[in-house]
Amino acid sequence: MENVFDYTSKETFDLENRNLFDPFFHFGAHQSEISNFGDFIQINAAEKDIILINDHGIIRAFENSCPHRGCRLIDQQVGNVEKVICPYHGWQFQEGKVFIPSLKDFENAAIEAVTLHYYSVELCGNFIFFSPNPQHSLKEQIGIFWDDLEMMSYDITTKVDTNNQDFYANWKISLENALESYHVSSVHSSSLGLLGLTEGEVTFDGVNSLWESSTNNSKFHNKLLKIKSLFNNSYQKESYFSLYLFPYSMISSTYGYSYAFQTFFPKISTETQFSSRTYATKTPYISFFDDVIHLNHKIFAEDAHICQLVQKGVTSSSKFVYSKQEQRIVAFHSSYEKGITA
Ligand code: FES
Ligand SMILES: [Fe+2]
Repeated sequence: MENVFDYTSKETFDLENRNLFDPFFHFGAHQSEISNFGDFIQINAAEKDIILINDHGIIRAFENSCPHRGCRLIDQQVGNVEKVICPYHGWQFQEGKVFIPSLKDFENAAIEAVTLHYYSVELCGNFIFFSPNPQHSLKEQIGIFWDDLEMMSYDITTKVDTNNQDFYANWKISLENALESYHVSSVHSSSLGLLGLTEGEVTFDGVNSLWESSTNNSKFHNKLLKIKSLFNNSYQKESYFSLYLFPYSMISSTYGYSYAFQTFFPKISTETQFSSRTYATKTPYISFFDDVIHLNHKIFAEDAHICQLVQKGVTSSSKFVYSKQEQRIVAFHSSYEKGITA
């Protein structure tokens, strides 16, 4: 029996944001999403709005808040800007520098030190990660899965879908749901359940884990094998797999044909800022991705619903038991305990 975690309090939420959000790297985007000068994407996580931008070829991440008096700088989720200009008093931000109109009117000498609140950015292949205050390099954080992740990133050509939605559940509930396959036959009987995924195998490395599962649906398996030659990818596996990167990120794929990168960021103590982005790989068989997108939307709607029910049902005095199919949750709990008290 394990004690249940705190899935409701604001104190725990704040502690998590300090001890898990700040020191770790989190998935931000694939480079193809911001490949042109000025392309940006906004990420909402842990009560922060973060802009990832291609600033003349350099990927920067910063809080979407003007250092003058706090105005939101960019009020769109994705787009392109020639330079970042604050709509309030016109401060401009470009190539790491600030341009201040009527600079002479600022008598305060500290004005020279004013800057955006930048985050660290590191890449694994073409995947972009950001961290407010990293305690380890991205490479150390990803560990033995680095080469696999890098190879996956090079197979990706473009993003084909964004599914941003709030789950009305604490982020740990949403994540724990994604870490186990035990619920698949009951919650996803007419979606993911049809794939006939087996119990599979889990590889653990530090705080991260990889689950690989073959299918016992031979019709489905044969169909996927038949189209294999249409995909010109370096990373292919004859399995469904999901790689969990502590604390909030997970990438999953069927046979390496397409990828879904999910983040389970805390929004408020009882809500998750869920995002799943689907990426296409090197193939002329574009219509394949329509089916994947459709299926993913159905699966995540089912997950959103069940997570909401867990949030409603969970109490602070509950003790829970975990099956073998839920071993990644137990591992997550132990990483969480270490991270939160660090
Ligand atoms: S708040 Fe941004 S320029 Fe004043
Ligand atoms: Fe699910």
